[in-house]
Amino acid sequence: MDTEHLTPAAWLFNLLTPGILMVVLTPTFLLTTLFNPRLLLNFQFDKLQSKSFALWWSTIGSCLSNDVPQGLQPILDEHCRGKVLDIGPGSGFQLKRFKTAFEAGKIDEIYAVEPGTEMHDQLKGEAIKVFGGKAPRMYQILSCGAQPDALIPYMDKHGLLQNNEAEGLFDTIVCIRALCGIPDPRETANLFYRLLKPGGKIIFFEHVGNSGDRRRSGSRIAYLFQKVYMMLGYQFLASGCDLTRDTAGNLRTAAAADHGWDKVRVVDRNPEGCIPEVWGYMQKKSKRVA
Ligand SMILES: C[S@@+](CC[C@H](N)C(=O)[O-])C[C@H]1O[C@@H](n2cnc3c(N)ncnc32)[C@H](O)[C@@H]1O
Repeated sequence: MDTEHLTPAAWLFNLLTPGILMVVLTPTFLLTTLFNPRLLLNFQFDKLQSKSFALWWSTIGSCLSNDVPQGLQPILDEHCRGKVLDIGPGSGFQLKRFKTAFEAGKIDEIYAVEPGTEMHDQLKGEAIKVFGGKAPRMYQILSCGAQPDALIPYMDKHGLLQNNEAEGLFDTIVCIRALCGIPDPRETANLFYRLLKPGGKIIFFEHVGNSGDRRRSGSRIAYLFQKVYMMLGYQFLASGCDLTRDTAGNLRTAAAADHGWDKVRVVDRNPEGCIPEVWGYMQKKSKRVA
């Protein structure tokens, strides 16, 4: 496994970043509540969270969209193809990453799973920028979560399962900064594995939990900071974002019944930080192994 590391100054900043985000997210949430008192009175906290997050993300998401590992784009250019499932695209700031594969004629269509309906107009606008007049056909938005009990009923209702779910539906699944906020992470990883066609790939760039284990380049301090931020309400303010997930582990385990993935490339980015990240891809075997 490859690893990319932080400088000491960057490590300190990384340690404080979730706290800084909380300082920004708190007034955003309070303002959202102030302008949507009905949601508060009806105890619709999930809607308030989602609205507040959309407001925050529409301003900060664009800057963050450029902070991706250099190696991610070549993976998308090379491996993104066929029928694609785009998980949690938000306001669509990462849609530009499909442009090369789209212009090379590798992508047939993209289904975007985005439950944050407040961001859909902006997302459609970004789709038009990338896919032009083909956007309505190329980029279809599914207004649901990607966890099994939301995605499968939604796809079923809209005739997208086509009775061949068991053989896989998608050639590529793309997850960029999305798996941290999806409920039931293990079941969701298992579902993505099932939804991939034989030979299909899941391409990801996600922040994860610090292992706290120095032998794995983790940091006990950053591990504890993650726990403290979570206890202080980071997840609530950041619309469900969990700092402590083992996303690479969940994805690896999803293929266990088939004796693992055919190919795995996982790069650890800043494993000593408070927002460690993993990126790369995993490819499903072309044939089922008995
Ligand atoms: C941090 S944002 C990232 C957005 C986009 N991927 C990017 O990098 O610009 C996380 C996104 O995941 C979405 N999300 C939250 N819960 C989700 C769920 N259950 N299923 C799918 N996406 C979800 C949020 O609405 C949000 O758009």
